[in-house]
Parts: sequence; structure tokens; C-alpha cells
Amino acid sequence: VLLVKSLRDGQAQRRRLESLMDEYRQLFNTPTDRLLALRDALVQQLEAGLAGQPGGLMALPSYVDVLPSGRERGDCYAIDLGGTNLRVAHVKLGEQRGATEATHIREWEIPEEHFDTDRGSLLRFVAQCTAEVIREHSGAAGGGGPAGAKPVVGFCFSFPVDQTALDNGKVLVWTKNFRGSYLIGQDVVAALRSELAAAGVDAEVPAVMNDTVATLVALRYSEPDTQLGIILGTGTNCAYLERAEAIGKLPAGYRGRTPAMVVNSEWGDFRSPLLPTCQEDLWIDCSSPHPGNGLFEKQISGLYLGEVARRILLRLAEKEGLFGGTLGLLSRHFVLTTADMAACDQDDTPDLHAVAGVLERVLEIRKTSLQQRRLVQEVCQLVCLRSARLCAAAITGVLQRVGHPCGSCSAGGGGSGSGAPAPPVAIAVDGSVFEKYARFRERLRAALEDVCGKAAADSIRLQLAKDGSVLGAAYLGVAAAQFEGN
Ligand code: GLC
Repeated sequence: VLLVKSLRDGQAQRRRLESLMDEYRQLFNTPTDRLLALRDALVQQLEAGLAGQPGGLMALPSYVDVLPSGRERGDCYAIDLGGTNLRVAHVKLGEQRGATEATHIREWEIPEEHFDTDRGSLLRFVAQCTAEVIREHSGAAGGGGPAGAKPVVGFCFSFPVDQTALDNGKVLVWTKNFRGSYLIGQDVVAALRSELAAAGVDAEVPAVMNDTVATLVALRYSEPDTQLGIILGTGTNCAYLERAEAIGKLPAGYRGRTPAMVVNSEWGDFRSPLLPTCQEDLWIDCSSPHPGNGLFEKQISGLYLGEVARRILLRLAEKEGLFGGTLGLLSRHFVLTTADMAACDQDDTPDLHAVAGVLERVLEIRKTSLQQRRLVQEVCQLVCLRSARLCAAAITGVLQRVGHPCGSCSAGGGGSGSGAPAPPVAIAVDGSVFEKYARFRERLRAALEDVCGKAAADSIRLQLAKDGSVLGAAYLGVAAAQFEGN
């Protein structure tokens, strides 16, 4: 009798587990017509942002209105601050058009205390690391360039800033894992200059830019049809080239002077009741340093994907005994990284060996059955697929702004069949999720085909712009310094 009872209990529990999984399958479902509606909502918020209306995206003018031509010469330092690591590079722009002769990049993990910007001294840390690199490369000239010249530093600062020129930017808010009130409302370039001076370096900082802007510039240097720069890493965001007259918030005088300018959309802040949201998203949001902000980013980017999967697995384990009563380390926040999640997702071995490995090594859950591992893999796939499909919706929205026909298809796709073929467009993408998560890239591409139709999607090249942030910062730094020098 006992045996029959325990078999029945086991079956009932499996059924409940299946039905909870079904709920998640439903919640993570992103049919194409929903993606099209999300695309339209994003375009509306972007347009409101450009006009400076409430409820819009930040849509920040970058004051990058002349893109480097590839003919810039000289050398430059580049700082890339914004994710998990700080990178400082020394870049020599070569004699050949668009070529970099040498790039030396050094990288530091940002010490934990600096994420709470009131507690640490973030820019002091940045300036000290930069000073080290400048000293390494400065030689007898005391700078990087001609004898006696000041070293030039391009500053890639990946947070929202309010600029009135290329060489200034008031910090609007901290995002991702950074928090506190340090520098809010202040000019980050002036603050960097004074920390550099305190570190013994007298440098020129002629340009500050977002990582999306730098990435766009970096690829455009060699591929002139680049229109968008996207980051899919710790955070997510997109910059694109907008007609100046459409940027209502630009000072009127400026609008008449330049045909186009790169705009930093800050799409991570996109919000819509149509975003497929589960309770794990809400928990992640309310326990984050910025509740209520960056809701799109929290469903898309590398800082959060593993955490969404962990929380779902925790619920399945706690509520429906996924691992037969064991929780291992599942209750530990952020213990499952997006890289772990990708390893589970991409495990093609018949017995899901890599999934077993992640469960044991990361979550301390041992001796799992194949059925349990399959479920873990499916959770990871759901989380990745939602992210990739939402990202595709956002990309087509921005493509619509730049007039690419793929951005204007209606439900059912098919921006392809009629008339001339869509002109090719390149999108520069950088960040660990795009670079290292192959299935994410495949799903993103497939989703673009769903949304735009195959032919129109084929005209879009998603291109990895490796080290785009540092290279773009260097190109812009040199271009701006030469421009000022003339
Ligand atoms: C966050 C920042 C944004 C940056 C992105 C990628 O969304 O707010 O400025 O571009 O992360 O690093």
C-alpha cells in the first residue's frame, strides 16, 4: 500500500511540476504580432524621447555629428568604464585608412566598493589605472603624440549622460550594478580631468561617449553602411544615426548646423505592459539597486539572464520538488551566471553532461536525473529565447527610425516581397552575451526573420565589433583632438 501511495504521490508531483512549467512556457511566449506591437511602442517612446516629451526614452544626443573618416592619425588612450571591468587602452592609428597599427589593452576588475559610488572613489580608481597605462606608453615625449603634446584620452562612459558638447556630460543616473549619488548632476569629464591631474597626468579629454556610440563609430570606420551600435553585455542599449532636425531636444541653432547626429537611445529603460513578465522579473526588479528602472534591460542583458533562470528553478524546486527536496545553493542571489546558463542551454550531449556539471559545481545539486536536467535546460532556453526575441523587436524599431524597410513590416513579416530589395545595413554589436552565447545569436537572427521576413532580414548584418568601446573611444578622441587643433 505504501509503495502504491508513494508512486501516486510521485506522479502527482510530476504533473504539478509539468503544469508549473506550462505556466512559464505561456508566460515566456512571444508571438510575432506581440513583437510587432512592442516594436511600435518602442518607436513611439523613442520619438517622444527625441522631442523631450514625458514618457519617452532618454534618447540622448551624443554630439557625435561628424563620424571619424578613417584618415585620422596619431595615438590616443581610451578608457572604457561601464560594466564589470575597467579597460584602458593605448591605440595607434596607422597610416592605412581605417587601420589601427597597435592596440594595447589592460583590464582591471572593478573592486566591489566602487559599485556603491558614495562609498568608493570610482574615478580616482579609473584615473590611477589610466595614469599607469599612460606612463607605460609615454616614453620620452611625456605624452603619446608629438614631443611635448598632452596625451589624448577618449572616454567611453557607459551610463546616461546629458551632453551639450562632445567633451562634457552630466551624469543623469547610475544603472546596472552601480548606485549612489556620486557625480549625479556633475560633469564626468571635468571630474575625470581633475582625478587625472591628482594622479600626476595632464591629459586632454576631448570626447566622452556611451559604449553604444563608440561601438557604432568603431565599425563604421571600416564599414560605411553601419547605422546602429548595440551592446548586449552586462547591460543593453542601442545608438543610431538620427536626422538632426528630428531631434527636437537639440538646441535649435545646432539643429540647423548639422545633418545628422548619433543618438544614445538608452533602450534598456523601455517599458510596456506588453513585455512578457513573470513574478521572477518583478522580484529581480524590486531587489535591484534601481527598482522600476531598466525593465527591458532586466529581461535582456547578461547581468540578469542567469538570475531569471535561477529564480525560476528555485520556484520549481521549492514549490514542486524539482530536485526532490534539495535546493543546494539555489537560494543564493546571482549564483547562476549567464555564462552558466548558456552552458546548460547549449549542452548537446545525450545525457546533458554540461547541465549536470553546472548543477554540481555551481548549485551543489548532485545526482540529478536526465529528466531533471532536461527541465533545467528548457528553463535556460526559455529565458534566452525571450531575451533574443525582445531584442529583435527593439532592433527593428530602431531600423524603422533610420528608414530601413525591415522596420515597417506588419504582422506576418514579409517586408521582402514587394519592390526593390532592402538596402544592406550593418549593425555593430559588442558585449559578452552576443559574443559568447552562440544560441542567443541564432535565436536573434531567427527572430529578425520572423519579424521582418527572410529577404529583409537578410539585408541586416549583425556584426561583432570586438573591443568596439575602446576603439571607438580612441577614434573619436583622436578625431576630436585634431578638430580642436585645427
Ligand atoms: C546600461 C547603460 C547604458 C549602456 C548599457 C550597456 O543600459 O545605462 O548607457 O550603454 O548599459 O553598457
